[in-house]
Amino acid sequence: MYKLSVVGTGRMGRGLVRVLSPLSKESDLIWGSRTPDKARALIDEEGFRNTVAGGYEEALGAEVILHSLWFRDVLPWAKENREALKGKILVDIANPFTEDFNDFTTEWGTSAAEELQKLLPQTRVVGAFKNTFFRVLEQPLHNGLTSDVYVTGDDEEAKRTVLSLLDGIPFRVLDGGRLSNNRTIERMTLFEREVAVRYGNYPYVSFRMFGLNEG
Ligand SMILES: NC(=O)c1ccc[n+]([C@@H]2O[C@H](COP(=O)([O-])OP(=O)(O)OC[C@H]3O[C@@H](n4cnc5c(N)ncnc54)[C@H](OP(=O)(O)O)[C@@H]3O)[C@@H](O)[C@H]2O)c1
Repeated sequence: MYKLSVVGTGRMGRGLVRVLSPLSKESDLIWGSRTPDKARALIDEEGFRNTVAGGYEEALGAEVILHSLWFRDVLPWAKENREALKGKILVDIANPFTEDFNDFTTEWGTSAAEELQKLLPQTRVVGAFKNTFFRVLEQPLHNGLTSDVYVTGDDEEAKRTVLSLLDGIPFRVLDGGRLSNNRTIERMTLFEREVAVRYGNYPYVSFRMFGLNEG
C-alpha cells in the first residue's frame, strides 16, 4: 500500500510533490491525476524521485491522501469516494474563496476543512498548506527563512501522523490545533493574498509567525 498520495497535478499538486518526493522512500508516494500520463510526464520532466504516477482511484488507496482540488471540486469528489476514503487521513489544502478572490463561499461559522469533515465523518480530515501559495513551494527559502505550515485536526493521532510525514520538508511545520482554526487560517490566507497583490509579490507569499520558541 502507498503511504502517501497527492491528488491533482495543478499548481499546488505539483508543488506538494516537489517538497514531498525528496522524503519519499521506495516509491511510497503516488501522484494521482485524471490524466495519469500528465503526472508521469511531470515526474520525468521535474526529476521527482520515488514517485509513482497513477489515477485518482489508485491514489485513494494510500493511507494519507493530500488532495489539491478546488473547494468546489473537492466536495463532489469526496461524496463520490466516501467509501474509499473511509478510515483514511485526508489532508485538505482548499481555501473556499469566491471566483473573484474577494470573499468566501462558506459561512463565517465554518471552513472548507470542517465542511469536508462533515461530509466524511469516517475519514479523518487534517488541514495544511492553506496559507502557502504555490510559488513558495517552488522556492521555500526567503532571505534564509522558511515559512510556516499550520497542521490542524480534531483527531490527535491523525494530526501527529501528518506532522511526522511532513517532518523534513523545507518549511516550519507547526501544530495548528483544532480543525475549526481553519476558519481563521483560510481568512488569513485571503488577507495575505490581498496584501501581496497590493505590494506586487503575489503569488510568492506565505506566513511565518514571529517570536515562537522553536523546540
Ligand atoms: N494556488 C495556490 O497558491 C494555493 C495556495 C494554497 C491553497 N490552495 C488551494 O489548493 C487547491 C488547488 O489550487 P491550484 O492553484 O493548485 O489549482 P489548479 O492549478 O487549478 O489545480 C487543480 C487540480 O485539480 C484537479 N481537478 C480535479 N477535478 C477537477 C475539476 N473538476 N476541474 C478542474 N480540476 C480538477 C486537476 O488535476 P488533474 O487534472 O491532474 O486531475 C487540477 O490540475 C485549491 O483548493 C486552492 O484553494 C492554492
